[in-house]
Amino acid sequence: MKKIAIIGTQWGDEGKGKIVNYFSSDFDWVVRYSGGANAGHTIYFDGTQYVNHLLPSLHPQSDTKGFLGAGMVIDLGQLIGEIRVMTGRTEGFAERIYIDPEAFMVLPWHKQEDAFQEEQASHPIGTTRRGIGPAYTDKVSRKGIKIYWLFEEDVLLELLKRIYTEKRSRYGEAVLNEPEEVARSLISQRQELVDLGVHFASSLDVSKRLREESVLFEGAQGVLLDLDFGTYPYVTSSSCLAHGIAVTGFSPSELDEVFGVVKAYTTRVGTGPFPTEERSDITSRIREKGREYGATTGRPRRVGWLDLPALRYACERSSVDSLIMTKADVLAGIGDIKVCRAYRTGDGITEMPASSHDFFGAEPLYETLPGWKDIEDSSFARFVEYVEMAVKRQITYISFGPETDKVYHRNEI
Ligand code: IMP
Repeated sequence: MKKIAIIGTQWGDEGKGKIVNYFSSDFDWVVRYSGGANAGHTIYFDGTQYVNHLLPSLHPQSDTKGFLGAGMVIDLGQLIGEIRVMTGRTEGFAERIYIDPEAFMVLPWHKQEDAFQEEQASHPIGTTRRGIGPAYTDKVSRKGIKIYWLFEEDVLLELLKRIYTEKRSRYGEAVLNEPEEVARSLISQRQELVDLGVHFASSLDVSKRLREESVLFEGAQGVLLDLDFGTYPYVTSSSCLAHGIAVTGFSPSELDEVFGVVKAYTTRVGTGPFPTEERSDITSRIREKGREYGATTGRPRRVGWLDLPALRYACERSSVDSLIMTKADVLAGIGDIKVCRAYRTGDGITEMPASSHDFFGAEPLYETLPGWKDIEDSSFARFVEYVEMAVKRQITYISFGPETDKVYHRNEI
């Protein structure tokens, strides 16, 4: 059965939520395999916009099931809020949601620690303060709490007490909430999820079903925020590549196709290198027209031109087969378009960064292309062809506008 991955090729916010939502009805499952409530995946349904952070972006009215897989760090309170909103609009929604007990939890202390570290840092990352870095840190240092401990209350409390003591000795008053209070809250959240009809699935049973059925793996953030290959340390703390599905027990070689989502320009939230960033009237207009404000934090996104060296790098790093372009409608009517074709770095001119190090201090070299009025404009077709040639990947779909159904196959244009 068909398996595909849809990932972001920039610094997140490429519009993956809409794209996953568009394709989701063709699949039995949509699986999230990384990140947590730092992601902000926007979907439109019945004229209303929903921004989900943890829920897979499945179509509300379909038979598709959603799986929050191992590899994620889950904030139960946030998840309940999202499920309640979706269930309010679509009966039976919660029963289509499955959680892998191997996933880890984000605890209140992780969010406090995240905020504390950002406030103390000489070079803050500009995190979403959703506790992501600290939750993954606890995971790899073997202190994290897996979802399955929610069902063994004595062990849960014991584990919470250990974490609390350690964090308290490290961060003092910045760490609030007694372990007993956290345990009570987690257990009541677990019960609420059970009452809503959410499945705490046996990890291996779901894996077997996923193997036999069709699956869309939904990436979070984008390759340039990947923990290993992004612009470290200005990255998130998990895998943003298609290869990240390995944490759910799947091999990337089981994927039939990897789609990379690319916005027609570039944005970034938080700090870190951004070679094509521009602070001008045009980029301010793009920010307003494209509503480029963080879906999780509301922060204005930094805006710049499409960066082809970065896109080539992302396609290579994540074995992208073909691309889906979003938000070209935002550039319509703004006049000539700039596209970065190469970088000048300390070592000369390069079309593709050799490592994430090359993003630091890269100077963009631009090509100027004529702008377009609408999707039928020949200048738009020229832009699409230019990008395809430059990155040696086909742009198979084009998303033009925020509504879910506004996705066109390349041949329609
Ligand atoms: P964290 O994932 O909250 O630790 O934040 C680390 C970096 O990733 C910061 O620059 C965030 O702004 C960025 N980031 C995290 N999630 C997203 C996302 O979904 N879209 C865009 N940027 C994100």
